Amino acid sequence: METNDYQKDHYIFDQLRKYAKDFAEVYRSEKEKRKELEATNQQLVKYAEDLNKTLIELKTVHQYLQQAYLDTIHRLVLAAEYRDEGTGSHIVRISRYSALIAERFGLPADDVQNIVYAAPMHDVGKIGIPDSILMKPGKLTDEEFEIMKTHTTIGANILANSKAKILQVAHQIALSHHEKWNGKGYPQGLSGDKIPLVGRIVSLADVFDALTSRRPYKEPYPVEVALEIIKKERGKQFDPDLVDVFLGNIDEILKIKKEVDSAKDAPFSLLAYEKRGQVS
Ligand SMILES: [Fe+2]
Ligand SMILES: [Fe+2]
Repeated sequence: METNDYQKDHYIFDQLRKYAKDFAEVYRSEKEKRKELEATNQQLVKYAEDLNKTLIELKTVHQYLQQAYLDTIHRLVLAAEYRDEGTGSHIVRISRYSALIAERFGLPADDVQNIVYAAPMHDVGKIGIPDSILMKPGKLTDEEFEIMKTHTTIGANILANSKAKILQVAHQIALSHHEKWNGKGYPQGLSGDKIPLVGRIVSLADVFDALTSRRPYKEPYPVEVALEIIKKERGKQFDPDLVDVFLGNIDEILKIKKEVDSAKDAPFSLLAYEKRGQVS
């Protein structure tokens, strides 16, 4: 009996010792694993920090490239516009008017920003029009006018097939900014909604600016006269909804005109549009 009890105790003791040893082993390996985890964790934190740093650097480079890209576009536009108008203030006004109309019409900020940068390229095709026609002080003959009309398709060809969204919008604008709501425009004779919205917007901005600006063949019309003409063309030359938006925001349109007209050399910085749902 005693021996049995002794054996039993011994057995239990052995088992306990074994458990203790196993437990110590598990504890030791867990501790090691935790250490490894901690090291991995630290490594991950470092990777995250490095990644963040790289992202910030990439963002800076991206912004720089974007700025250089826009700057290059502006200077090319200015080169095309130089024979026509010299200071580039026409294209700054067009851009600002178009952006305001687009924004108040309810287009998203990204689309408005594309219009800001694409609208200045609307007449880039004039680069292919001879000086004798482009700078003629008097009225164009029918034949000369036919040549003048090709600035839309020349511009579209220059801007075609780009992967860049701004140039795709610019292509649409160059091709469609002389189309009329009633289908009597050029070069395709599109009507109503078939004319791209950006083309309808720039058309309105372009005509208002042409009416209220000095040209080789005419003095500027007073704003009231220009507005009467635009009202008369509501639903004929222009998209009626856009005319309503334009007239509803005429105070701001005139504010833009005053600001650009009084700026020395109409700097391109006046194109500035920040993504805060407002044209500045
Ligand atoms: Fe044009
Ligand atoms: Fe124009």
